[in-house]
Amino acid sequence: MNLTLQIWRQKGPNDKGQMVDYKVNDISEHMSFLEMIDVLNEQLVASGDEPVAFDHDCREGICGMCSMYINGEAHGPDRGITTCQLHMRMFNDGDTITIEPFRAAAFPVIKDLVVDRTAFERIQQAGGFISVNTSGNTQDANALPISKHDADEAMDAATCIGCGACVATCKNSSAMLFVGAKVSQYALLPQGQIEATDRAANMVAQMDLEGFGNCTNTGACEVECPKGISLTNIARLNRELMKAACKS
Ligand code: SF4
Ligand code: FES
Repeated sequence: MNLTLQIWRQKGPNDKGQMVDYKVNDISEHMSFLEMIDVLNEQLVASGDEPVAFDHDCREGICGMCSMYINGEAHGPDRGITTCQLHMRMFNDGDTITIEPFRAAAFPVIKDLVVDRTAFERIQQAGGFISVNTSGNTQDANALPISKHDADEAMDAATCIGCGACVATCKNSSAMLFVGAKVSQYALLPQGQIEATDRAANMVAQMDLEGFGNCTNTGACEVECPKGISLTNIARLNRELMKAACKS
């Protein structure tokens, strides 16, 4: 298929940036979206132009790096997938596709489609960890009984890959789904109880400091999340925050 791409080009953090049109031809419907951009970049390099900068690593839906806004949707028109898992069969010959970076004050653009998501790492450092004795004489993890329900819910929360689609999709640029998932994965397990009082409060304080907005229950984050992280994790985060407030 032959396509027109409208891509956000921005030389650096201080450049104003603009949408630029490109043509790509003979794109196979079996290609992934990133392979299609690879074709464009080969074209640009061959003609002496600067290739489009975009983040990617695993290209199999695990690392959360390939964050971009495609036709006005985080990770594009399909559901439950990342951009690297999006296939060109979702588009039609002759289509015009707009491709932009994730937009949020806390995710400043570094170049073209690459944004700085280290704000997520700082939130994690504020509380997304447990204190475990790793000296070699640790207690066997199986010695702690955990209900199947709690183990499953914790595992579901732990599938968050930190892609930032929830933030990019939210009209408030809220990171509550991300933080809710990270808090939930520990709140549901006995190993997470040691820091439980401080964790939610510290992570939310860092979230606010980074400039993310608050949640107004729109639910767009859940719709666009490639890992199906549920809004119930935001409810659990709020309960953990309330518990922390009562204990302090
Ligand atoms: S909650 Fe979903 S959309 Fe948000 S960072 Fe995690 S995986 Fe990405
Ligand atoms: S490149 Fe790793 S999730 Fe897309």
